[in-house]
Amino acid sequence: PGLEEAIIPESRLLLVSNRLPITIKRSDQAYCDFSMSSGGVVAGLAGLAKTMWYGWPGAQVPNDQVAYLKERLLNEHGAVPIFMDDELSDRHYNRFSNGILWPVLHYHLGHFTLFDEPAWDGYNEANRLFAREIAKDVQDNDLIWIHDYHLMLLPAMLREELNKGYPCRRKNITIGFFLHTPFPSPEIYRVLPVCDKILHGVLHCDLIGFHTYDYMRHFLSSCASVLGLSTTPNSVEFQGKLVTVGVFPIGTDPDKFSQGKKKKNVIKRMETLRKKFKDVKIIVGIDRLDYIKGIPQKLYALEAFLTGHPEWVGKVVLVQVAVPSRQDLKEYRDLHAVVSELVGRINSEFGTVDFMPIHFIHKSVSFDELAALYSMSDVCLERHGVLILSEFTGAAQFLKDGALIVNPWNTEELADSIHTAVTMDNEQRLINYRKLAEYVNKRTTACWGTSFVAELRRAACSRAAEKEW
Ligand code: F6P
Repeated sequence: PGLEEAIIPESRLLLVSNRLPITIKRSDQAYCDFSMSSGGVVAGLAGLAKTMWYGWPGAQVPNDQVAYLKERLLNEHGAVPIFMDDELSDRHYNRFSNGILWPVLHYHLGHFTLFDEPAWDGYNEANRLFAREIAKDVQDNDLIWIHDYHLMLLPAMLREELNKGYPCRRKNITIGFFLHTPFPSPEIYRVLPVCDKILHGVLHCDLIGFHTYDYMRHFLSSCASVLGLSTTPNSVEFQGKLVTVGVFPIGTDPDKFSQGKKKKNVIKRMETLRKKFKDVKIIVGIDRLDYIKGIPQKLYALEAFLTGHPEWVGKVVLVQVAVPSRQDLKEYRDLHAVVSELVGRINSEFGTVDFMPIHFIHKSVSFDELAALYSMSDVCLERHGVLILSEFTGAAQFLKDGALIVNPWNTEELADSIHTAVTMDNEQRLINYRKLAEYVNKRTTACWGTSFVAELRRAACSRAAEKEW
């Protein structure tokens, strides 16, 4: 660290993600409201020391409010909004990022039916808008950390804009990119008609990070097979430079939860839940309502479990929080309909006037409620609960020892794992819990952020010794 600071004494860290930590909500009132955004990227970056955070505030705002909102976001949250009109954000966020890229990155080709040219144009326009706005603020030696699949063209566009010179050409700018989703194998990735352009866009970085080794390996293979580039296990040679790639698994904030459990409100809420679910095992599921989260698969397995083990009817409850997400897309609205129907069917089959096996909550819940739910769960992470994890999650690669790893498409296997979880003795639960806690307490979100930034700093040092892009 001493050497790095000596070379780049006061480098600022600029964060860029599509979604800002604050979402602007249009209301009928004279002024727009703010609300906290949900989602992994926002939670992961919240605690990181940064100079500024650029992103889309989630809504088009009336022209006469732009200046006021900009000032408030900057002063109160260190956030710089990149405003877009609804038509552009629809093509960028809904139709391309979430309608095309998201399913391809998650192997859900069934959700990507037809390539949408206007949406691709929108993706380009939005990335260009980000590049122009950020380039205005960039100073020599800045570190710029760009996040996620919405902004994969931004590294190249930002370099272009910076080379145009605002207000004069900036020196020694280091760009990092982190992908918060999987990167699929090249056989899948190549389905995307613009797969080469996207790789080309992101390769203008100094450092590219992934959650797992597999995602990184797939990315490297795609660079080789789509663009014909030379790769090593941790770098790609691109336009005469070595772009470093690395694995940085994101974590959680365990301290926040252990502190949270001690809060008066949370303790009170836990007592209420304890009374309500006396002698009942509680399974907790917290997900955004997204087809990649496997909520229907979980419900089918619960149904199979209750059918195969009728002695557990009335003794197990699933509390499933499904945070509404991307409701502008039909796939997400359809999923809501499918899940609601399944919940209704299972509850009417196994429920009584006194008891319902599924509590389905289709809204965001407060942190206190989350902390109480996790703490009360018998099948989840806290209170020595058992963790059941899909083998297709990134986390499964790191939590194999301690969690029950299942294939969610194998309903019988998942139903068996529910049985294993609810019948596991306390001693085994404690053994598993300790293994998981050891990993989770070490690999926190804060560690993830600081280790990526440290690597970015290292990249900045080596680029200082090389020629500019
Ligand atoms: O990487 C996935 C992600 O973009 C995360 O930022 C977030 O958890 C989630 O998807 C939802 O994001 P959004 O609400 O912006 O679509």
